[in-house]
Amino acid sequence: MKFTYYGHSCFAVETGGKTLLFDPFITPNALAKSIDVDMVPADFILLTHGHADHVADAVRIATRTGATVIANFEVATWIGKQGITAVHAMNHGGSCGFDFGRVKYVNAIHTSSLPDGSYGGQPGGFVVTAKDEGSFYFAGDTALTFDMKLIAEEFTLRFAVLPVGNNFTMGAEDAAKAADFIGCDEIVGVHYDTFPPIRIDHEAAKAVFSKAGKRLHLLKIGETHVF
Ligand code: NI
Ligand code: MN
Repeated sequence: MKFTYYGHSCFAVETGGKTLLFDPFITPNALAKSIDVDMVPADFILLTHGHADHVADAVRIATRTGATVIANFEVATWIGKQGITAVHAMNHGGSCGFDFGRVKYVNAIHTSSLPDGSYGGQPGGFVVTAKDEGSFYFAGDTALTFDMKLIAEEFTLRFAVLPVGNNFTMGAEDAAKAADFIGCDEIVGVHYDTFPPIRIDHEAAKAVFSKAGKRLHLLKIGETHVF
């Protein structure tokens, strides 16, 4: 599966001939100036929660690409009110089949409101099981939680995407524990460096993971990696 990092918690995964784009926050991100938001491809846009640093460019990209937006009920309804008709609402514990594979919306511990202050429901993460290519997990914004152990019981993950920036989410220490809970050794770190409170020491974060027998990938914005 080809993974492309667009900065903050935004990335794309190509699988089964489809491009899945997660939590698009590109135009407001000073670190992502090299990315042209109007060139970013998407067949599906998956949103973990309603905060602006996860949904900022969702409507713009969905309008251009016609991508289907997958999110919890409240976020999907809000995206629908912005004029996007291709929306698919889910909620915690539910999974659904799409033409690229299955998506399960799983627990996260965080908060959620939309950019205009509307209620965003409860935040979540996604486990995507691609046809023939295995599963991956995107935690969204979350604290470390024992619920992550349920993911290891149900899925064998090829890789996982975890926040490592601390302050608003887990930091590297807790994310390394999360990697253990979900039974995954290949971790992509996200939600770091974008704002002053979440600036991290890259080498120190990688060392925390390598000490735990895991690998932390901190990709450059625009960089791709094949898992
Ligand atoms: Ni958030
Ligand atoms: Mn966030």
